[in-house]
Parts: sequence; C-alpha cells; structure tokens
Amino acid sequence: GPPLRTLAEKHGLQVGAAVEPNLLLQDPEYAQVLAREFNLVVAENVMKWGALQTTRGQFNFAPADLLVEFAQKNHMAVRGHTLVWHQQLPRWVYGDFTPAEMEAILREHIQTVVGHFRGKIAYWDVANEVIGDDAELRPTPFEVLPDYLEKAFRYAHAADPGAKLFYNDYGAEGLGPKSDAIYALLKSLKDKGVPLDGVGFQAHLDLNFSPTAARMAENLERFAKLGLEIHITEMDVRLSGPGSKAERLQKQAQIYQEVLQVCLRQPRCKVFTLWGVSDAYSWRAASEPLIFDADYQPKPAYFALQRTLQQP
Ligand code: G3I
Repeated sequence: GPPLRTLAEKHGLQVGAAVEPNLLLQDPEYAQVLAREFNLVVAENVMKWGALQTTRGQFNFAPADLLVEFAQKNHMAVRGHTLVWHQQLPRWVYGDFTPAEMEAILREHIQTVVGHFRGKIAYWDVANEVIGDDAELRPTPFEVLPDYLEKAFRYAHAADPGAKLFYNDYGAEGLGPKSDAIYALLKSLKDKGVPLDGVGFQAHLDLNFSPTAARMAENLERFAKLGLEIHITEMDVRLSGPGSKAERLQKQAQIYQEVLQVCLRQPRCKVFTLWGVSDAYSWRAASEPLIFDADYQPKPAYFALQRTLQQP
C-alpha cells in the first residue's frame, strides 16, 4: 500500500519520527525508510541543551544542521526539541546563578538556537516535562528565575516569529491530576498572552493503554478549546506483558490505531509523531515499541496505521 506520509497528507496530518542524525550516515536503510514513510522529523537528542551548548558560549550545530538538510531535501517538516527541560542539561547550567544571570543564560541559549534555525523549524518544543508526576512544577536550575517559562516562550517567539511554540509532556494523554495541572498551566500562560501555540502529548505507552484511550478524546477537546493546536509527539508502545508475541503485536497495533483515530477525529490534532523509526534504535529497544522491526519489516502496528489512514 501507499506510504504513511502520502496517506496522511489527505487528512491534513503530518506523520513524524524522532531521528538520530548519525544514523542517516551509518545506515542507508534507516534514511530510506524515514524519507519514504514520514514527512516530519524531530531531533531525538541533538537539539537538546546538553548537545548544543555543552560548554558555555560554544554552540555545536553540526549534527542538527545535518538533520535539517536531510529534512529539506526530502520535503519534511522539522520539529525542534527542546529548549527548557530539566534533563540533558550541561553541568555548567547547575552553577550558582542570580536571577539576572540565569535570565541572560536562558535568553542567550534560546536566541542563538532558535535564531540559528529561523525559518527552518515549523514547531519548537519550548518547554518539555515542566510538570512532574505529582502534578507540581518540577525542580529545575531555571527556577531561580521566577517567570522562566513565560520568558522562554517570549524569547523563542522573538527569535523566530514563524515557528509554532509548544508545551510537551508525557502521562497526560488521559484525564487525571497531571493533565489537569498541565491544563491549568497552559490556560494561565494563554491568559497572560504568552506566545503558546500548542500542546504535545508524548504518548510513551504500554499494552494497558486502551481504557485511557477511550477518555483521551475528552481530554484533547478541553485543550483544543483553549485554542491550542494538538500534536502526538513521541508515540511508542512497549510490547512487554503477558500473552503470546502474536497477541501482543496485535494489541500494540490496536493501541497505535486508537491513538491515531483520536487524533484524526480532533480537528486541531495536526501531527502524529513516533519516537523513532525501527525497534533497532529505540530508547526502549528491548521492548520493541515501534512500527518497524529491527530489520525494517513493517509490524502489525504499521499496517494498522496504514489502514486507518486509508479510511476517508
Ligand atoms: O551521546 C552520548 C554518547 O557520547 C555516549 O557514548 C553514550 C554513553 O551512554 O551516551 C550518549 O548519550 C545518550 C543519548 O541518549 C544519546 O544516545 C544518553 O546517555 C542517554 O541518556 C540519552 O537518552 C535519551 C533520553 O531522552 C535522555 O533523557 C534518549 O535517547 C531519548 O530517546 C530520550 O527522549 C526523551 C525525550 O527527549 C523527552 N520525552 C521522553 C523521551 C524518552 O525518555
């Protein structure tokens, strides 16, 4: 059947995958499957703070530039990931800074990075996982600056007014305290006039997700009513659990299909992104969470997405 990107275009949907640019050079089949099936890429690691500015004031854009060039050559959109996250920060950010110093650090990083890619990046995950699993704001070195979050969005917007700016998080697909806290945070940012365009639901899932999928539409709808664009940003579904492998592959396919259907039925859901291409290189490789196996053979989950996109 036709590749996913061709089918998705008819729905006004982009289908994306997280990418490690070194694999584009090392594994021709990886690059081939990526360009054939997807029309959006996101940097799995190379646009994180720790990768771009390991040493203060020295920026290394080479791997990220390679990814952007690949995307342009293959007519794919690019998502930037991520500007404010409590993980994968270089050691120097943990220094003892005053609020004014931290403000300068944050501004310089965002101006430099977003400015470097200006006009080439459709979406930026400005903020990633700011709310913890306890539904409270997470500790972060940035918090010495009280309104760091709001400022991050404003700096990003100033550096590239054409990029759509996102809040991205996991464990908020269904209704519950964490998604309530994210909803309240995003509503307050909107009320303050912060340039926030959308919300990303990561969707790092397992085989028990179906009951939550049934309530996911309701959750997405309240974010849509805030005027936000909605993206599925990092989907994968761990295969581990009881039952035969064949049964689990079917269940995995069903969950991919359920989440895609929720997205297709929500008019503001415009992007459906997977956290990798093949099981071989997944961050959870042992649990085979993606839609291509380690030999690039499409799994039942691939065909489930294809069938779903083939429906009008
Ligand atoms: O680059 C170094 C390499 O030089 C070194 O030799 C090697 C040895 O361990 O480590 C390499 O860095 C690793 C990096 O991935 C690149 O492969 C880090 O140790 C490893 O921690 C890092 O993991 C990434 C993780 O974020 C970091 O927390 C995963 O690949 C990446 O898939 C994952 O992505 C996150 C999203 O950004 C946010 N949402 C959750 C998602 C899954 O955790």
